[in-house]
Amino acid sequence: MKTIIANWKMNVGVRESVALARGTLLTLRGRKHLPELVICPPSVALSEVRKVVARSGALLGAQNVFWEEAGAFTGEISARMLQELGVTHAIIGHSERRHQLGETDEMVNKKVLHVLEHQLTPILCVGETKQERQAGKSKEVVLGQLKAALSGVRLRPSDHLLVAYEPVWAIGTGESATVADIVEMQSSIRSLVQEILGERTLSQLRVLYGGSVDGENAYGFLREKEVDGVLVGGASVKINQFRDIVHAACEVLEAQT
Ligand code: PGA
Repeated sequence: MKTIIANWKMNVGVRESVALARGTLLTLRGRKHLPELVICPPSVALSEVRKVVARSGALLGAQNVFWEEAGAFTGEISARMLQELGVTHAIIGHSERRHQLGETDEMVNKKVLHVLEHQLTPILCVGETKQERQAGKSKEVVLGQLKAALSGVRLRPSDHLLVAYEPVWAIGTGESATVADIVEMQSSIRSLVQEILGERTLSQLRVLYGGSVDGENAYGFLREKEVDGVLVGGASVKINQFRDIVHAACEVLEAQT
């Protein structure tokens, strides 16, 4: 199986989200072997996009979530509220939130625990900055973020965990990581998850890559056995690009059968 996450970020309003959701579903038409598709519109568009994706097989994700059930937390949205909107996945710890909104490892950990408690699937983002990479600290940083995020986590047999390796320097820059770098980092991520959560959880884990994935390079990532899917930002709101990414996944899946 391959998973494609469409992270629309703050790029589209409600009306545009509805149109984009329709276009996104059309990319699946006529293909036999489909990837799992998770659409993450801005939170204000979730309920309208839900109507479009209902009965399509595509899933709905939130771009963020808060860690408390309810209460005086102005502007925040809990997992329970997201569930009411048909959301099954939540992006947690995206680098834009870590770096522009001060989200810490501790906050990321609370969010992971909260969504799992509510049977939502976390899409946990981890990744190093350019400076950290240049200092030779990529693995240390990524595995440190992962370890902190999984503190106190216990997966039930029905839970799933998606980890997206997203080097910060590759997000929105047009400069993606090499396949070799991605495969190596993903194998370290798998080993650490196995160490922390136990070997049996490996079947519940999917490790994705994100960072300047587009219609041209997607196939190169997706054909790797170790790459369970891609998290797509910029190219997910450009329907021609996104169609090529979805079709790349379909081709990989078709070749496997
Ligand atoms: P990008 O964003 O595809 O535009 O690089 C990826 C992300 O932010 O998850």
